[in-house]
Amino acid sequence: MATRKTLLSMAADSWPVAKEELLRHVEDAVEVRRVGEESAVIETAHSTAKDLALLARQAPLVFPRHLTNVVAEYDHATTGLDTVIDFLDTAIREYGTAEVSLQIWQSGKTTYKFSRHDAWERAAQVLTDRGYQVTRTGSPVAVSICFTPKTAIVGVNRVADSLSSWPGGEVRLSKTPDQVSRAEFKLEELFKAHPIDDGIEPKGTALDYGAAPGGWTRILAQRGYRTTAVDPGDLDPRVLQLPGVVHERTTAGNFLRETRDRFDLLVNDMKMSPDRSSRLMVDSARLLKPFGVAVTTLKTGAHHVLEQIDESFAILGAAYDIEFARQLRHNRNELTVVLRRFD
Ligand SMILES: C[S@@+](CC[C@H](N)C(=O)[O-])C[C@H]1O[C@@H](n2cnc3c(N)ncnc32)[C@H](O)[C@@H]1O
Repeated sequence: MATRKTLLSMAADSWPVAKEELLRHVEDAVEVRRVGEESAVIETAHSTAKDLALLARQAPLVFPRHLTNVVAEYDHATTGLDTVIDFLDTAIREYGTAEVSLQIWQSGKTTYKFSRHDAWERAAQVLTDRGYQVTRTGSPVAVSICFTPKTAIVGVNRVADSLSSWPGGEVRLSKTPDQVSRAEFKLEELFKAHPIDDGIEPKGTALDYGAAPGGWTRILAQRGYRTTAVDPGDLDPRVLQLPGVVHERTTAGNFLRETRDRFDLLVNDMKMSPDRSSRLMVDSARLLKPFGVAVTTLKTGAHHVLEQIDESFAILGAAYDIEFARQLRHNRNELTVVLRRFD
């Protein structure tokens, strides 16, 4: 039987649960094997990377961060880099494009003795010589080589079906001097991955549960939201000075009981069990304007993760449609969920 292979990336710590999730939801899965620290190949009877991307968007698959169709897999021990590179244009041909993004990434240690940069330059030269316009990002089709400890895997996929436009989903965000917490990266990455505030009027209002020390509040203020930050803890003084920021020094539960305000966007990064946090999100849906958007992290920890996700989604389903659910690169033992209030 001819099978299809898709290369996917996930957090190294999430491998066992990512595998369990794939076997549970991908009906025609034949085998899932880990190939590198943060990568695995799923073999299916007929599902392609595009089918898996659709499943991921409909929420049941939360752990894959990046997907590409495997077109060749070479053993390091027997195959040199030039042979791997030589194969790239064969991989691209069926997509009928003259412009490609070339992505080189590594998952775990390899025995190859060259840098990612060198491999990219060599591969880009070969493709350019063969008439392709080669970019790092921004083309509709991405061709990639993923170097794993034993193999070099050539992949090709439409970027729209890859879950992330970054090589292997490895989003790189740099720390800025005015950053107040590492948690900021989670919200910044989410804004790159999903168009949360499409449709929200400029200068909308946001409510931030579990805001201290104020990283998410800072990002929201930067995007023009007038933000109410709810947390019993202290906010960084720099955040308190930002235009439109108000600190309510209380718990989310108390705030919910007392407020009469309505918001365009509700975000929640509270340190709280997923079921409690989800119930609070459902109770807080009435603070959102009709069809308002909410973002919540679900802090599952490392045990009974799929059961906790199922339970949380069932709770959230009482008030929201789930638009996006993914363990982002900057999530550790948690996932990020985007919800839309239904009426
Ligand atoms: C991971 S931190 C949030 C980091 C924040 N998003 C940032 O970007 O700086 C979790 C916060 O949840 C807050 N928290 C926990 N339980 C809460 C509750 N019931 N109501 C409000 N905040 C709560 C804690 O005080 C803590 O500041």
